[in-house]
Amino acid sequence: MPAPSSTAPTAVPGEAVLAGGYHHPLLRSLQAERHLTKDMLMYPIFITDEPDAVVDIKSLPGQKRWGINKLEAFLAPLVQKGLRSVILFGVPLHMHKDARGSPADDPNTPVILATHLIRDKFPELVVACDVCLCEYTDHGHCGELCPLDHLTPAEQRADAKIIDNPRSVRRMQDVALAYARAGAHMVAPSDMMDGRVGAIKQALVDNGFGNRCSLMAYSAKFASNMYGPFREAAGSVPNFGDRKCYQLPPNARGLARRAIVRDAREGADFLMVKPALPYLDIMRDARELAPDVPLACYQVSGEFAMIHAGANAGVYDLKAMALESAEGFLRAGCTLILTYFTPDLLDWLDEPA
Ligand code: PBG
Ligand code: ZN
Repeated sequence: MPAPSSTAPTAVPGEAVLAGGYHHPLLRSLQAERHLTKDMLMYPIFITDEPDAVVDIKSLPGQKRWGINKLEAFLAPLVQKGLRSVILFGVPLHMHKDARGSPADDPNTPVILATHLIRDKFPELVVACDVCLCEYTDHGHCGELCPLDHLTPAEQRADAKIIDNPRSVRRMQDVALAYARAGAHMVAPSDMMDGRVGAIKQALVDNGFGNRCSLMAYSAKFASNMYGPFREAAGSVPNFGDRKCYQLPPNARGLARRAIVRDAREGADFLMVKPALPYLDIMRDARELAPDVPLACYQVSGEFAMIHAGANAGVYDLKAMALESAEGFLRAGCTLILTYFTPDLLDWLDEPA
């Protein structure tokens, strides 16, 4: 009997050696299904009712609350660098907040004034308006609450204060329409009320905005710990309870998948997953469940703060980590990224790789 020449498994070179595919920067770049481009970036901006404000947001490095009079000078250099879209959040500091969030669609609310101004000064820039009530209600919740007057005092326990979904949906329709009338190219309801996507879409169509205003649904928005800096920036901390009964539980893949399918059926033009980095699996689910609807993700305030904190602690380089996170979102299937890194990325994308 001839002795076996070797007991090691024979390697088939084509199967075993992958390194041949990525030994050069160009070959590495060609491994991507899609590349980050400036048109994929949507920049979230906070606008206050103090017309001359330029106020640092402590927990969001480099981000500020802008007064309407400061917006043009702030945006001009960004547009020059290739900024294509913004999403506006209102921060009323002086307007009177009430139970129904009246300042949300007041004709002088910061988001409406800013939409007019941006459409006028930067005709190429796409303007999205976040639609929610939490910045505008006195209680800080994203919808209207059920009236308590029909309850006896004994029934008026803390947990009796729950969201009035149908009433909130009607309110969201009005607010979205007000933003569409002001010139928003896109409305993006982040309130998470059931049925609001179909209702808002219907309101847009019925009022002649069906073919001039997109609807981006925050479909899979989770009740995350990473919204803290935003709530500080926007003054939208709820004054009792939390948002766990209208934002998805972080463990809930099933609910996220159902929300994605539902919002696509209700006519969303864009779907969104939020936050981004911990929810890449949900992005992949969205690509597969609704392959014909473009997908956005929101790299939220806490993710931005976390990446900065890590860089400051010497854990990694800020630019390299921000780019790696964006590559993850693209790989998962997103083509629109809402991120506070947008101004940095506009610079970084101009630098040699
Ligand atoms: C409000 C809203 C939030 C964010 C966007 N819209 C906060 C929340 O739901 O409490 C978070 C964005 C961020 O953290 O950057 N509906
Ligand atoms: Zn809200």
